[in-house]
Amino acid sequence: MLEVQNLVKAYGDLRVLDNVSARIENGRILVIIGLNGSGKSTLLKVITGILPCDNGCVRIDGQDVTSLEPEDRKIGYVPQSTALFNHLTVRENIIYSQKNGRGSPDGFEAVVSMLNLRGYLSKKPKELSGGYRARVALARALYSQPSVMLLDEPLTEIDHAKKEQMLPEFKQVLHQLNIPVLYITHDPREAELIGDAFAVMYDGKLKTIGTTEEAFEIIRAQVLAGAGIA
Ligand SMILES: Nc1ncnc2c1ncn2[C@@H]1O[C@H](COP(=O)(O)OP(=O)(O)O)[C@@H](O)[C@H]1O
Ligand SMILES: [Mg+2]
Repeated sequence: MLEVQNLVKAYGDLRVLDNVSARIENGRILVIIGLNGSGKSTLLKVITGILPCDNGCVRIDGQDVTSLEPEDRKIGYVPQSTALFNHLTVRENIIYSQKNGRGSPDGFEAVVSMLNLRGYLSKKPKELSGGYRARVALARALYSQPSVMLLDEPLTEIDHAKKEQMLPEFKQVLHQLNIPVLYITHDPREAELIGDAFAVMYDGKLKTIGTTEEAFEIIRAQVLAGAGIA
């Protein structure tokens, strides 16, 4: 289980996270929807530990990890724009976490077949389509055998038709892990295809919603109020 409680993060006067709390059970995918600049990436970076928070705590399976280093949190993280290593092959990218003593060669085959990457292992990221780069980024995060998975707009480069095909597959893969998953998007349709539960981020707050239609309403109101760009 992943729990965040009263997270606060400010950049100068800008309070990007203003007492954000959430809880995700194992095997559930919570999608956070929000406009650009609403603090979604900041929230994920605070949970990973890459970015220190000003207040609040992060718990994984009941353990307070707020003061642990990122590599000690057992979090799988797909950063925005995938951040693959272009000089490494797909295979080398996937097993990268071995350098930090994570993952095991036994898990490699399972991850490769789960994401249909068998024929691509000796290619470099630049030789792949956006869809396959997203698969590799997810495979790399899965290989580290995380207790929690965080994905920051992993399919932004991908066109709509392709997303409609990939999202149900990603959802199935993520459910198989039986860990809490936090998935970020600015696209309510994408949210609908991958999520079990939904929340909207705005004004530094996280608001739980029942359906993605509510996200459309809230985001429309935010755009009319002049916040960010959809
Ligand atoms: N290192 C930083 N220093 C100052 N402001 C930042 C920094 N990183 C992000 N911000 C600001 O914090 C807000 C939230 O950014 P971010 O979390 O990246 O939003 P999102 O991922 O929802 O687009 C934005 O207004 C952004 O300009
Ligand atoms: Mg972002």
